Amino acid sequence: MNRHFLCLCDWSAAELDAMFSLARTLKQQQQQGQPHHLLAGKTLGMVFEKSSTRTRVSFEVGMFQLGGHALFLPSSSTQMGRGEPIKDTARVMSRYVDGIMIRTYSQSAIEELAHYAAVPVINALTDSYHPCQIMADLFTVLEHKGSYADRVYCWIGDGNNMANSWINAAAVFGFELRVATPPGYEPDEAVMARARQLGANILYTNDPYAAAAGAEVLNTDVWASMGQEQEQRQREKDFAGFQLNSDIVAVADSECLVLHCLPAHRGEEISDEVIEGPHSVVFDEAENRLHVQKAIMATLMQE
Ligand code: CP
Ligand code: NVA
Repeated sequence: MNRHFLCLCDWSAAELDAMFSLARTLKQQQQQGQPHHLLAGKTLGMVFEKSSTRTRVSFEVGMFQLGGHALFLPSSSTQMGRGEPIKDTARVMSRYVDGIMIRTYSQSAIEELAHYAAVPVINALTDSYHPCQIMADLFTVLEHKGSYADRVYCWIGDGNNMANSWINAAAVFGFELRVATPPGYEPDEAVMARARQLGANILYTNDPYAAAAGAEVLNTDVWASMGQEQEQRQREKDFAGFQLNSDIVAVADSECLVLHCLPAHRGEEISDEVIEGPHSVVFDEAENRLHVQKAIMATLMQE
Protein backbone atom coordinates (compact mmCIF):
# COMPACT_ATOMS: atom_id res chain seq x y z
CA MET A 1 0.00 0.00 0.00
CA ASN A 2 1.44 3.36 -1.08
CA ARG A 3 1.86 6.17 1.40
CA HIS A 4 1.25 9.62 -0.04
CA PHE A 5 2.27 13.02 1.34
CA LEU A 6 -0.90 15.04 0.74
CA CYS A 7 -1.51 16.59 4.16
CA LEU A 8 0.48 16.66 7.42
CA CYS A 9 -2.68 15.40 9.07
CA ASP A 10 -2.15 11.96 7.47
CA TRP A 11 1.12 11.43 9.35
CA SER A 12 2.02 10.96 13.01
CA ALA A 13 4.45 13.16 14.94
CA ALA A 14 6.85 10.21 15.25
CA GLU A 15 6.83 9.58 11.49
CA LEU A 16 7.43 13.25 10.67
CA ASP A 17 10.12 13.44 13.33
CA ALA A 18 11.88 10.50 11.65
CA MET A 19 11.85 12.52 8.41
CA PHE A 20 13.61 15.38 10.22
CA SER A 21 16.29 12.96 11.45
CA LEU A 22 16.80 11.68 7.94
CA ALA A 23 16.87 15.25 6.58
CA ARG A 24 19.60 16.12 9.08
CA THR A 25 21.71 13.13 7.95
CA LEU A 26 21.15 13.87 4.27
CA LYS A 27 22.05 17.54 4.79
CA GLN A 28 25.32 16.57 6.49
CA GLN A 29 26.14 14.09 3.75
CA GLN A 30 25.44 16.64 1.06
CA GLN A 31 27.52 19.32 2.80
CA GLN A 32 30.41 16.88 3.24
CA GLY A 33 30.24 15.76 -0.38
CA GLN A 34 29.29 12.19 0.54
CA PRO A 35 27.10 10.36 -1.96
CA HIS A 36 23.68 9.42 -0.60
CA HIS A 37 22.01 7.69 -3.51
CA LEU A 38 18.95 6.43 -1.68
CA LEU A 39 16.84 6.70 -4.85
CA ALA A 40 19.36 5.46 -7.44
CA GLY A 41 17.63 4.77 -10.73
CA LYS A 42 14.28 6.21 -9.58
CA THR A 43 12.31 8.93 -11.31
CA LEU A 44 9.96 11.63 -10.05
CA GLY A 45 7.35 13.28 -12.27
CA MET A 46 6.82 16.91 -11.24
CA VAL A 47 3.46 18.29 -12.39
CA PHE A 48 3.09 22.06 -12.09
CA GLU A 49 -0.22 23.83 -12.65
CA LYS A 50 1.12 26.95 -10.88
CA SER A 51 4.43 28.84 -10.95
CA SER A 52 7.39 27.91 -8.76
CA THR A 53 11.03 28.67 -8.10
CA ARG A 54 11.94 26.94 -4.82
CA THR A 55 9.74 23.86 -5.18
CA ARG A 56 10.73 23.05 -8.73
CA VAL A 57 14.46 23.59 -8.18
CA SER A 58 14.67 21.88 -4.78
CA PHE A 59 12.77 18.76 -5.88
CA GLU A 60 14.75 18.46 -9.12
CA VAL A 61 18.13 19.00 -7.45
CA GLY A 62 17.09 16.76 -4.56
CA MET A 63 16.20 13.89 -6.86
CA PHE A 64 19.55 14.27 -8.65
CA GLN A 65 21.46 14.24 -5.35
CA LEU A 66 19.61 11.06 -4.32
CA GLY A 67 20.84 9.36 -7.50
CA GLY A 68 17.53 9.65 -9.32
CA HIS A 69 16.01 11.82 -12.01
CA ALA A 70 13.15 14.34 -12.05
CA LEU A 71 10.94 15.36 -14.96
CA PHE A 72 9.55 18.90 -15.06
CA LEU A 73 5.98 18.65 -16.37
CA PRO A 74 4.25 22.06 -16.50
CA SER A 75 0.57 21.58 -17.23
CA SER A 76 0.86 23.99 -20.15
CA SER A 77 2.84 21.35 -22.04
CA THR A 78 1.07 18.16 -20.93
CA GLN A 79 -2.22 16.64 -22.00
CA MET A 80 -3.55 17.15 -18.48
CA GLY A 81 -3.40 20.88 -19.26
CA ARG A 82 -5.63 20.16 -22.28
CA GLY A 83 -8.19 18.30 -20.24
CA GLU A 84 -6.94 14.70 -20.04
CA PRO A 85 -8.62 13.34 -16.90
CA ILE A 86 -6.52 13.25 -13.73
CA LYS A 87 -7.36 9.59 -13.23
CA ASP A 88 -5.91 8.72 -16.62
CA THR A 89 -2.83 10.86 -16.05
CA ALA A 90 -2.32 9.12 -12.69
CA ARG A 91 -2.46 5.63 -14.17
CA VAL A 92 -0.29 6.47 -17.18
CA MET A 93 2.39 8.24 -15.17
CA SER A 94 2.46 5.37 -12.68
CA ARG A 95 3.66 3.13 -15.53
CA TYR A 96 6.75 5.32 -16.02
CA VAL A 97 7.79 7.02 -12.80
CA ASP A 98 8.36 5.98 -9.17
CA GLY A 99 6.74 9.03 -7.61
CA ILE A 100 4.61 12.03 -8.58
CA MET A 101 4.94 15.53 -7.14
CA ILE A 102 2.13 17.91 -8.00
CA ARG A 103 1.38 21.61 -7.46
CA THR A 104 -2.20 22.38 -8.31
CA TYR A 105 -5.35 24.21 -7.25
CA SER A 106 -7.81 21.94 -5.48
CA GLN A 107 -6.97 19.41 -2.79
CA SER A 108 -9.60 17.11 -4.27
CA ALA A 109 -7.60 16.95 -7.54
CA ILE A 110 -4.52 15.76 -5.68
CA GLU A 111 -6.60 13.26 -3.74
CA GLU A 112 -8.02 11.90 -6.98
CA LEU A 113 -4.51 11.64 -8.44
CA ALA A 114 -3.33 9.74 -5.36
CA HIS A 115 -6.36 7.46 -5.49
CA TYR A 116 -5.59 6.34 -9.04
CA ALA A 117 -1.77 6.43 -8.84
CA ALA A 118 0.17 3.25 -8.19
CA VAL A 119 3.13 5.31 -6.91
CA PRO A 120 3.48 7.80 -4.02
CA VAL A 121 2.09 11.31 -4.61
CA ILE A 122 3.56 14.41 -2.93
CA ASN A 123 1.62 17.65 -2.41
CA ALA A 124 3.82 20.52 -3.58
CA LEU A 125 1.07 23.08 -2.78
CA THR A 126 -2.65 23.26 -3.30
CA ASP A 127 -5.11 26.03 -2.45
CA SER A 128 -5.63 24.16 0.83
CA TYR A 129 -2.18 23.06 2.04
CA HIS A 130 1.58 23.38 1.60
CA PRO A 131 2.90 20.53 3.77
CA CYS A 132 6.45 20.36 2.34
CA GLN A 133 6.93 24.01 3.26
CA ILE A 134 5.83 23.54 6.86
CA MET A 135 8.23 20.58 7.16
CA ALA A 136 11.09 22.82 5.99
CA ASP A 137 9.93 25.56 8.38
CA LEU A 138 9.89 23.24 11.39
CA PHE A 139 13.27 21.77 10.43
CA THR A 140 14.65 25.33 10.33
CA VAL A 141 13.28 26.00 13.82
CA LEU A 142 14.84 22.73 15.00
CA GLU A 143 18.22 23.78 13.61
CA HIS A 144 18.12 27.25 15.12
CA LYS A 145 16.46 26.46 18.44
CA GLY A 146 17.42 22.84 19.10
CA SER A 147 13.74 21.80 19.34
CA TYR A 148 10.47 22.60 17.61
CA ALA A 149 7.56 20.83 19.31
CA ASP A 150 7.73 22.95 22.50
CA ARG A 151 7.85 26.36 20.80
CA VAL A 152 5.19 29.09 20.51
CA TYR A 153 4.27 29.89 16.91
CA CYS A 154 2.46 32.89 15.47
CA TRP A 155 0.84 33.24 12.07
CA ILE A 156 -0.06 36.75 10.88
CA GLY A 157 -1.87 37.39 7.60
CA ASP A 158 -4.08 35.38 5.29
CA GLY A 159 -5.83 32.21 6.46
CA ASN A 160 -4.47 30.47 3.37
CA ASN A 161 -2.81 27.17 2.44
CA MET A 162 0.19 27.96 4.66
CA ALA A 163 -2.02 28.87 7.63
CA ASN A 164 -4.04 25.67 7.18
CA SER A 165 -0.88 23.58 7.15
CA TRP A 166 0.37 25.33 10.31
CA ILE A 167 -2.94 24.41 11.95
CA ASN A 168 -2.45 20.79 10.90
CA ALA A 169 1.08 20.89 12.31
CA ALA A 170 -0.19 22.28 15.62
CA ALA A 171 -2.58 19.33 15.85
CA VAL A 172 0.06 16.75 14.95
CA PHE A 173 2.90 18.07 17.11
CA GLY A 174 0.95 19.70 19.94
CA PHE A 175 2.69 23.08 19.91
CA GLU A 176 0.98 26.38 20.71
CA LEU A 177 -0.12 28.31 17.63
CA ARG A 178 -1.63 31.80 17.50
CA VAL A 179 -3.30 32.82 14.25
CA ALA A 180 -4.19 36.44 13.46
CA THR A 181 -6.07 37.29 10.28
CA PRO A 182 -8.36 40.16 9.28
CA PRO A 183 -12.09 39.37 9.57
CA GLY A 184 -13.23 37.48 6.48
CA TYR A 185 -9.84 35.85 5.89
CA GLU A 186 -10.04 33.13 8.55
CA PRO A 187 -8.35 29.77 7.94
CA ASP A 188 -10.50 26.89 6.71
CA GLU A 189 -13.21 26.21 9.29
CA ALA A 190 -13.09 22.43 8.89
CA VAL A 191 -9.31 22.36 9.24
CA MET A 192 -9.55 24.39 12.44
CA ALA A 193 -12.41 22.28 13.82
CA ARG A 194 -10.56 19.02 13.17
CA ALA A 195 -7.39 20.39 14.81
CA ARG A 196 -9.31 21.50 17.88
CA GLN A 197 -11.02 18.13 18.06
CA LEU A 198 -7.57 16.56 18.19
CA GLY A 199 -6.76 18.84 21.14
CA ALA A 200 -4.68 21.44 19.28
CA ASN A 201 -3.74 24.54 21.27
CA ILE A 202 -4.72 27.29 18.81
CA LEU A 203 -5.63 30.89 19.59
CA TYR A 204 -7.50 32.67 16.80
CA THR A 205 -7.67 36.46 16.90
CA ASN A 206 -8.02 39.57 14.70
CA ASP A 207 -5.26 41.26 16.72
CA PRO A 208 -1.74 40.59 15.35
CA TYR A 209 -0.12 42.01 18.50
CA ALA A 210 -2.04 39.62 20.75
CA ALA A 211 -0.91 36.73 18.53
CA ALA A 212 2.73 37.86 18.47
CA ALA A 213 3.14 38.63 22.18
CA GLY A 214 6.00 36.47 23.44
CA ALA A 215 5.91 34.19 20.36
CA GLU A 216 9.16 32.41 19.47
CA VAL A 217 8.43 31.99 15.76
CA LEU A 218 6.70 34.63 13.62
CA ASN A 219 5.44 33.63 10.22
CA THR A 220 3.56 35.30 7.40
CA ASP A 221 2.86 34.93 3.67
CA VAL A 222 1.61 36.99 0.73
CA TRP A 223 -1.83 38.56 1.03
CA ALA A 224 -2.92 37.33 -2.41
CA SER A 225 -1.89 33.75 -3.21
CA MET A 226 -1.50 32.25 -6.66
CA GLY A 227 -4.90 32.30 -8.33
CA GLN A 228 -6.06 35.35 -6.29
CA GLU A 229 -4.13 38.00 -8.22
CA GLN A 230 -7.32 39.85 -9.17
CA GLU A 231 -8.07 40.39 -5.45
CA GLN A 232 -4.70 42.08 -4.80
CA ARG A 233 -6.03 45.67 -4.52
CA GLN A 234 -8.91 44.75 -2.22
CA ARG A 235 -6.64 42.61 -0.07
CA GLU A 236 -4.10 45.41 0.33
CA LYS A 237 -6.90 47.41 1.96
CA ASP A 238 -8.26 44.55 4.05
CA PHE A 239 -4.83 43.49 5.36
CA ALA A 240 -3.74 46.97 6.49
CA GLY A 241 -2.31 46.56 10.00
CA PHE A 242 -1.31 42.94 9.38
CA GLN A 243 2.26 43.57 8.27
CA LEU A 244 5.01 41.62 10.03
CA ASN A 245 7.18 44.63 10.88
CA SER A 246 9.50 45.75 13.67
CA ASP A 247 6.55 46.80 15.88
CA ILE A 248 5.35 43.18 15.80
CA VAL A 249 8.85 41.78 16.35
CA ALA A 250 9.19 44.11 19.35
CA VAL A 251 6.36 42.35 21.24
CA ALA A 252 7.55 38.82 20.36
CA ASP A 253 10.20 36.84 22.22
CA SER A 254 13.52 38.71 22.06
CA GLU A 255 15.15 35.69 20.36
CA CYS A 256 12.27 35.04 17.97
CA LEU A 257 12.75 33.63 14.49
CA VAL A 258 11.01 35.16 11.47
CA LEU A 259 9.89 32.77 8.72
CA HIS A 260 8.43 33.44 5.28
CA CYS A 261 7.94 30.71 2.68
CA LEU A 262 8.81 33.19 -0.11
CA PRO A 263 8.26 34.74 -2.57
CA ALA A 264 7.72 37.83 -0.37
CA HIS A 265 6.17 41.18 -1.17
CA ARG A 266 8.34 43.53 0.88
CA GLY A 267 6.37 46.49 2.20
CA GLU A 268 3.13 44.47 2.13
CA GLU A 269 2.91 41.41 4.40
CA ILE A 270 6.48 41.90 5.71
CA SER A 271 8.71 44.94 6.02
CA ASP A 272 12.09 45.03 4.31
CA GLU A 273 13.67 45.76 7.68
CA VAL A 274 12.31 42.55 9.22
CA ILE A 275 12.97 40.19 6.31
CA GLU A 276 16.56 41.48 6.08
CA GLY A 277 16.92 41.77 9.87
CA PRO A 278 18.63 39.64 12.53
CA HIS A 279 15.59 37.49 13.36
CA SER A 280 14.97 36.44 9.78
CA VAL A 281 15.98 32.91 8.73
CA VAL A 282 14.14 32.91 5.41
CA PHE A 283 17.07 31.76 3.29
CA ASP A 284 17.93 28.87 5.63
CA GLU A 285 14.24 28.04 5.40
CA ALA A 286 14.36 28.07 1.60
CA GLU A 287 17.49 25.89 1.58
CA ASN A 288 15.85 23.41 3.91
CA ARG A 289 13.16 22.70 1.34
CA LEU A 290 15.88 20.69 -0.42
CA HIS A 291 16.98 18.64 2.57
CA VAL A 292 13.53 17.96 3.98
CA GLN A 293 12.00 17.03 0.63
CA LYS A 294 14.86 14.60 0.02
CA ALA A 295 13.87 12.94 3.30
CA ILE A 296 10.20 12.91 2.28
CA MET A 297 11.00 11.40 -1.11
CA ALA A 298 13.34 8.80 0.38
CA THR A 299 10.72 7.85 2.98
CA LEU A 300 8.02 7.41 0.35
CA MET A 301 9.96 6.05 -2.60
CA GLN A 302 12.77 3.91 -1.18
CA GLU A 303 12.29 0.15 -1.65
N1 CP B 1 7.77 28.62 -1.06
C1 CP B 1 7.53 28.09 -2.27
O1 CP B 1 6.84 27.08 -2.40
O2 CP B 1 8.14 28.73 -3.29
P1 CP B 1 7.88 28.51 -4.85
O3 CP B 1 6.51 29.00 -5.16
O4 CP B 1 8.95 29.34 -5.51
O5 CP B 1 8.04 27.06 -5.17
N1 NVA C 1 0.22 31.12 -0.25
C1 NVA C 1 1.15 31.19 -1.36
C2 NVA C 1 2.34 30.34 -1.10
C3 NVA C 1 3.40 30.41 -2.17
C4 NVA C 1 4.56 29.49 -1.91
C5 NVA C 1 0.44 30.78 -2.63
O1 NVA C 1 -0.33 29.81 -2.59
O2 NVA C 1 0.63 31.42 -3.66
